[in-house]
Amino acid sequence: MDILAIESSCDETAAAVIRDGREIISSVVATQIEEHKLYGGVVPEIASRRHCESICGVVNEALEQAHTTARDVDAIAVTYAPGLIGALLVGVNYAKGLAFATDKPLIPVHHIRGHIAANYLAYPQLEPPYLCLVASGGHSHIIEVTDYTEFTTIGRTVDDAAGEAFDKAARAMGFPYPGGVYIDKASKLGNPAKYKLPKPHTANPYDFSFSGLKTAVINLIHNAEQKGEEINVNSLAACFQTTVSEILTDKFIAAANERKVKKIVLAGGVAANSGLRETLSKAAEKNAMELFIPPISLCGDNAAMIGAQAFYEFQKGVIADESLNAYPTMSLDNPRI
Ligand code: KG4
Ligand code: ZN
Repeated sequence: MDILAIESSCDETAAAVIRDGREIISSVVATQIEEHKLYGGVVPEIASRRHCESICGVVNEALEQAHTTARDVDAIAVTYAPGLIGALLVGVNYAKGLAFATDKPLIPVHHIRGHIAANYLAYPQLEPPYLCLVASGGHSHIIEVTDYTEFTTIGRTVDDAAGEAFDKAARAMGFPYPGGVYIDKASKLGNPAKYKLPKPHTANPYDFSFSGLKTAVINLIHNAEQKGEEINVNSLAACFQTTVSEILTDKFIAAANERKVKKIVLAGGVAANSGLRETLSKAAEKNAMELFIPPISLCGDNAAMIGAQAFYEFQKGVIADESLNAYPTMSLDNPRI
């Protein structure tokens, strides 16, 4: 089954053709990052306008690269939640129009479910059940994945998401948006033990809290400025990255141990972080757990992951009609269409 998938939830316009939920026939991503960089973050209206301009070209490119047409695929999938509402609406309306014109089934996909499914494209042997850590710009979740479409969230962020914390801390350190990747690069040149940063406590041991850590970084920089002291930015980046990686890893591994789960999966944009990949890999090895980490190319937003999840949603009969809407927030465990 070939699915044409469309993603436009934030600042990437993407389309892909995916076979049987596991094989990438084509995948095209048009990023708007350079333009949003000027403003230090994503400007929602600009994002919507750029999606409008790019979506036809991106979808056509994905179809061309797959040597197929919208009439020849078996279904059309689209991210309908969560995300920037004006951005999501572009993809949803485009997909609805295309599905109507070609008389194909329309499959609505939850963006975070897509991030998790990115791993099915990289690992043909990966099947549920497993425990998943999703760390992205908008989400930090520990999720029990009991089946391809059965999810139970057991921990979530109570304030900032991991990627959001990376981006805000990076901004305080003077890096451009989105700062996660700059912190990652700077970390390699710094001393991860130079500064002491807090690990915030949460009432639920599997929840995350990153805003106190972000504030600690900002205060450290301000205090140094007031005293006329130099901050070693590379070392501060290394300390921040190490602390976030340890918080995410420790809670995730503890949750897996408590549930006696031996198969664990990482997903989301922050899965690209070299510190997190290394810390989690070592912890998995120490605890004799089988760890799946997506290749860097599938960590950030893309439509291939949406096509992968769509295949499994379709098997469960998840099909939308022309009344499909887009939603800025949506439960991962019990999404509504
Ligand atoms: O999953 P994603 O592409 O978009 C959302 O669904 O939110 O995640 C984007 C986030 C941004 O906050 C970005 O800074 C972060 O992922 N990110 C990283 C790295 N690459 C991307 N954070 C830390 N280290 C990286 N190498
Ligand atoms: Zn995402």
